[in-house]
Amino acid sequence: MRPRPQLLDEPLHVEPMTLLHAPILESRTLHWRNEADCAAFAALLARQPALRDAHVELHGPLGAGKTTFVRHLLRALGVTGRIKSPTYTVLEPHHVGDLAISHFDFYRFDDPREWEDAGLREVFAAPGLKLSEWPQKAAGQLPPADLRLHLAVRGDTAREVRLEACSERGEALLR
Ligand SMILES: Nc1ncnc2c1ncn2[C@@H]1O[C@H](COP(=O)(O)OP(=O)(O)OP(=O)(O)O)[C@@H](O)[C@H]1O
Ligand SMILES: [Mg+2]
Repeated sequence: MRPRPQLLDEPLHVEPMTLLHAPILESRTLHWRNEADCAAFAALLARQPALRDAHVELHGPLGAGKTTFVRHLLRALGVTGRIKSPTYTVLEPHHVGDLAISHFDFYRFDDPREWEDAGLREVFAAPGLKLSEWPQKAAGQLPPADLRLHLAVRGDTAREVRLEACSERGEALLR
């Protein structure tokens, strides 16, 4: 296994479960001064062809900016109209042209049977972009992430964001 020197000076809280999932192939830390920086990074990511079938996990405490980032990303991908948070529904689906985007929030997910009942296995097996908030709440069910974002609040509008690529696709997203 590769060494993970970033853990030695890791300033963010990283869930132990996520470390068991898959090795981190590449990582980077961003400093967002405000929401405009969040939107700018979302716009950059939206331009990456590798995003089409990627699974991106969003980690960080309540109010860190996970949904806000996803909204900017969806806008940058061309989603129009109101973008609802999947807080109560677990999944909010979106379509842009032939691109299917599934936005998940597993915060209230506590029954693994829900995974089958809600057809989430099929959603993950199908092509398309998957964006998961609170993935640690569905850790036993979720397929591995390509890219993980760990958001930490550093002020009213400042955020420290650790990016971790966990697959070749994830590495392509960081290029
Ligand atoms: N730099 C920033 N990046 C993202 N959001 C920011 C930033 N600065 C301020 N905010 C604000 O922080 C709030 C983040 O709320 P949001 O619902 O996105 O958090 P969340 O991480 O999805 O929380 P939850 O765990 O409850 O789903 C929003 O009101 C957003 O406008
Ligand atoms: Mg949210």
